[in-house]
Amino acid sequence: MKYVIEPGGRLSGDHRVPGDKSMSHRAVMLGALAQGTTEVSGFLEGEDALATIAAFRSMGVPIEGPVDGQLTVSGVGLSGLTPPSGPVDLGNAGTGMRLFAGILAGQPFDSELVGDVSLMKRPMGRVIEPLTKMGAVIAAESGGTPPLLIKGGQPLRGVHYDLPMASAQVKSCVLLAGLYARGRTSVTEPAPTRDHTERMLRGFGYTVDHVNGVIGLDGGGELTGTQIDIPADVSSAAFLMVGASIAPGSDVVLRHVGMNPTRVGVINILTLMGADITVLEPRDVGGEPVADLRIRYAGLRGIDIPEDEVPLAIDEFPALFIAAACAEGTTTLRGASELRVKESDRIAAMAEGLNTLGIDNQPTPDGIIIEGGRLGGGAVNTYHDHRIAMAFAMAGLCATQTIEILDCDHVATSFPGFAELAARAGLKLVAYP
Ligand code: S3P
Repeated sequence: MKYVIEPGGRLSGDHRVPGDKSMSHRAVMLGALAQGTTEVSGFLEGEDALATIAAFRSMGVPIEGPVDGQLTVSGVGLSGLTPPSGPVDLGNAGTGMRLFAGILAGQPFDSELVGDVSLMKRPMGRVIEPLTKMGAVIAAESGGTPPLLIKGGQPLRGVHYDLPMASAQVKSCVLLAGLYARGRTSVTEPAPTRDHTERMLRGFGYTVDHVNGVIGLDGGGELTGTQIDIPADVSSAAFLMVGASIAPGSDVVLRHVGMNPTRVGVINILTLMGADITVLEPRDVGGEPVADLRIRYAGLRGIDIPEDEVPLAIDEFPALFIAAACAEGTTTLRGASELRVKESDRIAAMAEGLNTLGIDNQPTPDGIIIEGGRLGGGAVNTYHDHRIAMAFAMAGLCATQTIEILDCDHVATSFPGFAELAARAGLKLVAYP
């Protein structure tokens, strides 16, 4: 599928983007491993989270739905999974593979984790290392890439692990393995990362402490089924936040957006750039902060992005680079080398697309320098990365010529219905099969 975006337009209306991807994965995972039933609403019916459902079904977990974001998971308990009949395919989902590695390292049966072309190239050494310290036995390709062959029946022991990189997936992998370990498992992180695993474990009745930067739990407990209302994904909302900020005359409201403090870097960074974002009716929904957001057009200016915001906005940089391209002056990003190992090398993919559109930029090993300017048009490669596709779609609002975005199928991994919602909001986008 490709998108063709005619230049101009503005965003308006009242919208709710699909459910949070990180929380959707975790709701199914903890629901499957809990005793009793878990009812989920607001579930993201995107391919990544659907792959997690399929994986648990293949290990004997009855799951009904999703229908209109509603899901019923009949938990089998921490020891109730059955061996999958073949390799467990997690599609495009790094979160799926890394969190499953932690869960499956503690099972009595062998398993094999695979994914699509993008996932098969992503680094898994970062989870193999701590899991091996805990006693797991895992084989991968020589470069630490999938498939992961996880040997069953290995007793795990609790360890303390200092995360070498700010990664919620690695933290979550270790904590999930810790559920199966003897004794205490704990981690420290170089910078705070999204804490949905910790919050959701508590929601399932499991004690997780966080004292002086050390996050820990004791193995051998039990999870109890619960109800989970998943908010709209702030990472999906980010595209519309940027679109409304760069397109003169825009005024949009985004409903029920997850406002977890470990996820709102995009709002902080856009605000520093001069964006006009109002937080309406902040509230707590099942242990996660949620709000409605109103975003109105505002002329943006380039900034030096504070490094402490980087892990809090890690998935939003493709969208933020488009904001920087439309801003007045220079935007500089440092300390973001993790962007090179996402669904694509997002620094390289964005730099290439910005060049196509005539925006001066200088990629660096851990970031990029972008000079705001006048966006032209042209054909942009997405490298099969959903967020690259959606970011360049928003660029159409500020462009002077038509933008064609190639290979947009992966948008469905995180934002099913993106093309329809964006067009309804005012983007001049047509999707071609
Ligand atoms: C995620 C963590 C982040 C993020 C990803 C989702 C999660 O990855 O980029 O989209 O759900 O834990 P890292 O842990 O690699 O930073």
